[in-house]
Amino acid sequence: MSMRIGFIGAGKMATAMMEGIIAKSLCAKDDIIACCRTESTKKRVEEGIGVECFLDAKPVFEGSDVIIIAVKPNQVKDVLVTNIEAITTKKLIISVAAGVKISTLEKYVPDCKFVRVMPNVCSTVLEGASSFTLGTNATREDAAIVESILNAIGMSFEISEDKIDAVTGLSGSSPAYMFMVIDALADGGVLMGLPRDLALRLAAQTMLGSAKTYLETGLHPDVLKDSVCSPGGTTIEGVKVLEESNLRAALINAVKASAVKSKEMSKD
Ligand SMILES: NC(=O)c1ccc[n+]([C@@H]2O[C@H](COP(=O)([O-])OP(=O)(O)OC[C@H]3O[C@@H](n4cnc5c(N)ncnc54)[C@H](OP(=O)(O)O)[C@@H]3O)[C@@H](O)[C@H]2O)c1
Repeated sequence: MSMRIGFIGAGKMATAMMEGIIAKSLCAKDDIIACCRTESTKKRVEEGIGVECFLDAKPVFEGSDVIIIAVKPNQVKDVLVTNIEAITTKKLIISVAAGVKISTLEKYVPDCKFVRVMPNVCSTVLEGASSFTLGTNATREDAAIVESILNAIGMSFEISEDKIDAVTGLSGSSPAYMFMVIDALADGGVLMGLPRDLALRLAAQTMLGSAKTYLETGLHPDVLKDSVCSPGGTTIEGVKVLEESNLRAALINAVKASAVKSKEMSKD
């Protein structure tokens, strides 16, 4: 990709994105720049990732074609408004800030090309699930750029902005639920006599393998579940317990609760 990508903010999400872009050779290190507030972050980015990092956002806005806003949501207004003169309408601005609507971004910098992204924490190990939504002035070419960046840190899906709270409830929040499932499965293993470390690793690898099996076969999860439940066997005994314990309803309600909270929090 022959363009310069600039990061406003160099924390967890920006670091994941920089590492993904470099690992997938989307851009050379020299074509990426970043900024942050503290010397310690600057040192980590420059020495750890090999990307030039400024203590000022202006050179990043001025020196990049694609700018990724990766500061906390309450810092977005300040970085955009303070640097408004360096933002031309040719630049593509990608915001990963949770809860900051496209209409809000377009109010801060009118006529600019914005894309709103909802990544998740698994982006930090390059297995993220991200959604993106084009702003009023962003083009299909911009969508292709965003997709290539997000696909470097996992998978991406284009959605309309009215779906973003549902995405937040599902892929945004469910890494926490999945960590709880891994922990609980490991507790089951420990209860039945396995050492804790082994139980945790067995549980995690089983979750990873199950997800991969679904993604690679494309078979419906119910078909895959049925395929491992032998008549009168061990697995169907466990399935019965999960159905009696309302596992499905609990997960459905968890996604709903998170989506409802996301909607409440992103009100103007
Ligand atoms: N982490 C996730 O899993 C995740 C998931 C979904 C969405 N997001 C979104 O991603 C964004 C970043 O989250 P994060 O977890 O990466 O946060 P983070 O680790 O706290 O990073 C924030 C970064 O912003 C920098 N910063 C703050 N004010 C700045 C300014 N005025 N100019 C330049 N840099 C500035 C900070 O610099 P210093 O390091 O020097 O303080 C820090 O590097 C948030 O809006 C969040 O909603 C994150």
